[in-house]
Amino acid sequence: MATTDQDDQLVTPWEVTAASQKGVDYDKLIKKFGSTKIEDSLIERIARLTGKPAHHLMRRGIIFSHRDVGLILDAYEKGKPFFLYTGRGPSSEAMHLGHLIPFVFTKYLQDVFDVPLVIQMTDDEKFLWKDMSVEEARRLASENAKDIIAFGFDKEKTSSPDFYKTILRVEKCVTVNQVKGIFGFNDSDCIGKISFPAIQAAPSFSCSFPQIFGGKKDIACLIPCAIDQDPYFRMTRDVAPRLGYPKPALLHSTFLPALQGAMTKMSASEASTSIYLTDSADDIRDKINKYAYSGGQSTVEEHRRVGGNVDVDVSYQYLTFFLEDDEKLAKIEKDYSSGAMLTGDLKKELISVVQQVVAEHQQRRQQVTEQMVQEFMTPRKLKYSS
Ligand code: TRP
Repeated sequence: MATTDQDDQLVTPWEVTAASQKGVDYDKLIKKFGSTKIEDSLIERIARLTGKPAHHLMRRGIIFSHRDVGLILDAYEKGKPFFLYTGRGPSSEAMHLGHLIPFVFTKYLQDVFDVPLVIQMTDDEKFLWKDMSVEEARRLASENAKDIIAFGFDKEKTSSPDFYKTILRVEKCVTVNQVKGIFGFNDSDCIGKISFPAIQAAPSFSCSFPQIFGGKKDIACLIPCAIDQDPYFRMTRDVAPRLGYPKPALLHSTFLPALQGAMTKMSASEASTSIYLTDSADDIRDKINKYAYSGGQSTVEEHRRVGGNVDVDVSYQYLTFFLEDDEKLAKIEKDYSSGAMLTGDLKKELISVVQQVVAEHQQRRQQVTEQMVQEFMTPRKLKYSS
């Protein structure tokens, strides 16, 4: 609901504001949402079951919270199938670095568990919430689909949906009062918004994809998403037993801070807070140099004496997302905190890491054709037999 806590932080699918430059207090959020913190034992179990090292986003606490992932792993251990579901509301032509995170993580999950994945593109959502025509929302969905395909998903394992029957079933289970309570809708919101949560819920249930699951309605679902999407899935988990479906499990990520600091997240509609996947190497350098909030001291002498504060330093925070080399990251943390490393040098590290991530993405995206988008968008059988 659109109220701030006593501590002044606000996290909804539409708005994220933290109480301090340290960013959102995620432990508080876990308490408020009633989800479960990811413990080391869960990370170790995933590494053991998959036989692959745990992803750095998990090891570093960026994927920090979950619901019922233990049940998914129990089932997986017994050889029972599950599928992955995630999504994207195409709000702008260019996706930014923050949008990359859930997809990078989802790609890892698809690779290590070798399971079907559905990706929902909610152009309908953006049409209902933004000042945008239906045609434009569709076009952006197709442009964003190219970025998503460029993240390297396997076409044999990745589909998008036909699921109106499931939407109807969910719509019949949820009252206007409930969505008002969960999402803060009011009587002036259009009816499209009121019913949208059912659309985001529907892909959580395997019966939405007869072409993949042969009509089975009991295949478990795991949803990697940023924590702000949790309200949709609390609602989904609430209706699941009433419809006779398994509750979807969740893996939540933190937000990528805005360049200006962790008071809020990177936002596509505010250009100066974001590094876009379309930015040039020069844009990236300029934005980081100009905007990235620094935890350094105001003079070199003072910095050398007191050291920098990695807890609020945006460049350091971004490195935890994008620099995979643990040793290098640990050294940067040590040197910056001690004052041996200056803000300029830290920014330089980040610039080269981000330039590389973005350039590689741009290369892969160039290879994505309209025809590939069509193919990924067509409901079809995947390589999994059910
Ligand atoms: N609402 C999400 C957005 O605005 C898009 C979305 C749809 C989604 N289904 C999802 C995100 C499932 C995560 C998981 O971007």
